[in-house]
Amino acid sequence: MANVAVIGSQWGDEGKGKIVDWLSSRADVVVRFQGGHNAGHTLVIDGKVYKLHLLPSGIVRPGKVSIIGSGVVIDPWALLEEITRIKEQGVEVSPETLVIAENAPLILPVHRVLDKAMETSRGDRPIGTTGRGIGPAYEDKVARRAIRICDLDDDAALERKLNRMMDHHNALLRGLGLEEVDVQETLEALKEVRSEILAYRGVVWKVLDQARQDGKRILFEGAQGMMLDVDHGTYPFVTSSNMAVGQAAVGAGIGPDVIDNVLGITKAYTTRVGEGPFPTEQDNEIGERIGQKGHEFGTTTGRKRRCGWFDAVAVRQAIKVGGIKGIVLTKLDVLDGMEEIKICVGYDINGERYDHLPAAQNLQQAATPVYETMSGWQGEVHGARSWADIPAEAIKYVRRIEELVGAPVTLLSTSPERDDTIVMEDPFVK
Ligand code: IMP
Repeated sequence: MANVAVIGSQWGDEGKGKIVDWLSSRADVVVRFQGGHNAGHTLVIDGKVYKLHLLPSGIVRPGKVSIIGSGVVIDPWALLEEITRIKEQGVEVSPETLVIAENAPLILPVHRVLDKAMETSRGDRPIGTTGRGIGPAYEDKVARRAIRICDLDDDAALERKLNRMMDHHNALLRGLGLEEVDVQETLEALKEVRSEILAYRGVVWKVLDQARQDGKRILFEGAQGMMLDVDHGTYPFVTSSNMAVGQAAVGAGIGPDVIDNVLGITKAYTTRVGEGPFPTEQDNEIGERIGQKGHEFGTTTGRKRRCGWFDAVAVRQAIKVGGIKGIVLTKLDVLDGMEEIKICVGYDINGERYDHLPAAQNLQQAATPVYETMSGWQGEVHGARSWADIPAEAIKYVRRIEELVGAPVTLLSTSPERDDTIVMEDPFVK
């Protein structure tokens, strides 16, 4: 049986929640490997709605092991709040069902302060971050200043490292004319929650290695999407981690050969939250209609998402760079009732035709889509459970997407309901 990684192929919010839940019900171990509580996955199981940000989706299903790898940045207070909330909904969370990497870095209050300060200093060109301190926490990790889970049970090391980190950040805050963050306050706050956090600490690479040896199915659960990847996305309007599948191995602590299949969750149109280039954006009636019908509001921040046509150029690039083998096409039903549908098949940038999204910010901003127009369909994709229930024009649209992006549709999701999923190929079969 295969181990599967799931990553977003656009700007996040592709509908990973439902698919990851569908897949996690068939997996034994579910691992988060990047990002933090900037993510938001909504799961609907037997009519109950679970909103997850940091916890792997497997947590809501009994008998699964959920793992938070070292590639994730962890806000201990947000994590405990999420655990409390999910426990109140009747979900069992214990050190047997949740393991957190001892080498995972923490998000501290100072990171949230810095996230806001940096956004303010960007003036009228902000990134539009989620304000959760994600970027500054990753900066500290790479700068080798981070406090990690394993530091929590060593008082002397914790205080020394915290002082060093705060010396650095408070100098910056002073320079910006902002209030400094108190070291002792952070230290006390950490001491208050550390025993609860440490209860979940584990040697994740060993847990995964054992799972692999025991022939367990492992699901690697990505957050955000390839166009927000810090290397390959629309930099600097990106998040601070990698989404490409190599990160699943690094951020979990396992070799890349363990991942047999990589699914790219792909929405049948495009959305983006926050600032940054979005060539196929429809800031008009069409975008409004897609947004209303697709309920395009952020799970984490509640922000209205920008909406637009399917961008086959960006998705093709995401597939190549991200290592995606098959796509899971979601929200096709949102396009039910449209008279015509456009697909971006290239860009015109300053009079030149491009078949890829170039890296330079000014070129990305100048990209005008070259569209192919297809007719919409009569009848409904909504709720279809077999290929035979899908209108012919909708099938044409799906086939054209496959051709343009160069990957087959492995699963097709036709409504938010778990069972409204058409399986073309079992992702867990090698
Ligand atoms: P940050 O991750 O909070 O630093 O935000 C950086 C960019 O990534 C912003 O444009 C956010 O809107 C975007 N972003 C972060 N997490 C998500 C997500 O889960 N879905 C969609 N966009 C996200």
